[in-house]
Amino acid sequence: MGDDHLWWQREIIYQIYPRSFMDRNGDGIGDLPGLIDRLDHLVWLGVGAVWLSPIYPSPMADFGYDVADFTGIHPIFGTLGDFDRLIEETHARGLKLILDLVPNHSSDQHPWFIESRSSRSNARRDWYIWRDPARNGGPPNNWLSVFGGSGWQWDEATGQYYYHAFLKEQPDLNWRNPKVRDAMHDAMRFWLDRGVDGFRVDVIWHLIKDDRWRDNPLNPGFAPGMSPYNRLLPVYTADRPEVLDVVAGLRRVVDAYDERVLIGEIYLPIERLVAYYGEDLEGAHLPFNFQLILSAWDAQDIAALIREYEAALPPGGWPNWVLGNHDNHRIASRVGPAQARVAAMLLLTLRGTPTMYYGDELGMPDVPIPPELVQDPYEKNVPGIGVGRDPARTPMPWNAARNGGFTTGKPWLPLGDDVAQINVESERHDPTSILSLNRALIALRQSDPALTCGGYAQVEPHGPVLTYLREHGGRRLLIALNLTSGPATVRLPAGTGKVLLSTHLDRGGSAEGDALELRADEGVIVELTGT
Ligand code: NOJ
Ligand code: CA
Repeated sequence: MGDDHLWWQREIIYQIYPRSFMDRNGDGIGDLPGLIDRLDHLVWLGVGAVWLSPIYPSPMADFGYDVADFTGIHPIFGTLGDFDRLIEETHARGLKLILDLVPNHSSDQHPWFIESRSSRSNARRDWYIWRDPARNGGPPNNWLSVFGGSGWQWDEATGQYYYHAFLKEQPDLNWRNPKVRDAMHDAMRFWLDRGVDGFRVDVIWHLIKDDRWRDNPLNPGFAPGMSPYNRLLPVYTADRPEVLDVVAGLRRVVDAYDERVLIGEIYLPIERLVAYYGEDLEGAHLPFNFQLILSAWDAQDIAALIREYEAALPPGGWPNWVLGNHDNHRIASRVGPAQARVAAMLLLTLRGTPTMYYGDELGMPDVPIPPELVQDPYEKNVPGIGVGRDPARTPMPWNAARNGGFTTGKPWLPLGDDVAQINVESERHDPTSILSLNRALIALRQSDPALTCGGYAQVEPHGPVLTYLREHGGRRLLIALNLTSGPATVRLPAGTGKVLLSTHLDRGGSAEGDALELRADEGVIVELTGT
């Protein structure tokens, strides 16, 4: 194994949406004691790090992404004591713990904002982004909120607008103010001192806005059915050149501790995404790569984006891949249950750190949410076009019991009607389940240096089959993924090979001649044995 690789390069990151993982006290909402009870699932699965979506005190306007105290725990999740126990229990199992850091905005109930809005002369006024109305009245410029409507909210009491890239309950902090930087750095140290292993930084590319307040241009690609936010290109509100300096500041905080990780949430095209590694790799260790979420499910398209990404990485920059998260439709719903198995093989055989989303290991699909049960504020603000994120945030089904064993109470979001089949316990007992597949893939990846840290080489796509090589110390693995539901044939570049694992879990160990027949929706990992 490449011993010179750090844990965040070797391990698999597993994202937990804490409201939906395990409820211990029966209030229908997941909590830290419940999560601790279930840590052994992660050990059994073989992942190495947990990233927790926010658990800070919050009015929950955006389910924790509206933080009212950057150094506390929301009572709904538990206490600081529970959190310390969580760190202890994760570390005792050899797992790492990554927290969500939400530095772009706070809750409007955060004491900082309450002070800031109290008067124009308050010492914290410029901790947020306040502007006078435009000359002829109305918002200062055309900036939009991602969640619909203007990004500017009028404050009657002080006669100015404040800017919010998300909900009006999430005012943006002013990162041009050094006091804001210091305060957020202090909050990071609070958690690093307690032992957390790093941060996933929310909307890191949004942190700095244009200091000349220029209007965003129209988006020529805007089409009906798109979220209204896409009417404009966010040229002046996101990915500003100065943001890289802010990212480097966050990185310096993390670097004062040993082996902690800084991950950035970034939805940008590849050539801009890689800028967040920083010029001398002084930016994020892992700028999240969402290309697999954004791409069409097509062998040529995916081959092209892997090639582009690999080529764009700066020297020494470590790649990473994400297949799903709490803001997007689940992979099993995006590509269907059969291809979800192929997708798992793709995620776990690409070069770089994989991030998995809780429940995806079970092949859990989106759960349709009836209108009266909708929770997500984005869906409430922009209804009817499918932007709602609740379907991908439903409770984890642990067994076939009522509510999947997630809660003894009423779950905050409903579980799917497939819980009897799609749950941890049943799938653990089924050697052909997608859960068994994920576990086998993880075991192979973690024990095979060609997969953990080997090189990547593309093989020309064979029609519907995405093929690539992973190699390490003379050992060569061919990954061949049939992205369609018809059979396909692949020629083995080196003559002969041995199938190590198939997504169908039924042909491990079989030897192959120079042509490999793939069944519908089948992916294989083949050890090349010829010369
Ligand atoms: C990105 C988070 O992933 C999303 O869930 C949240 O609503 C926005 N940032 C605002 O914090
Ligand atoms: Ca609970």
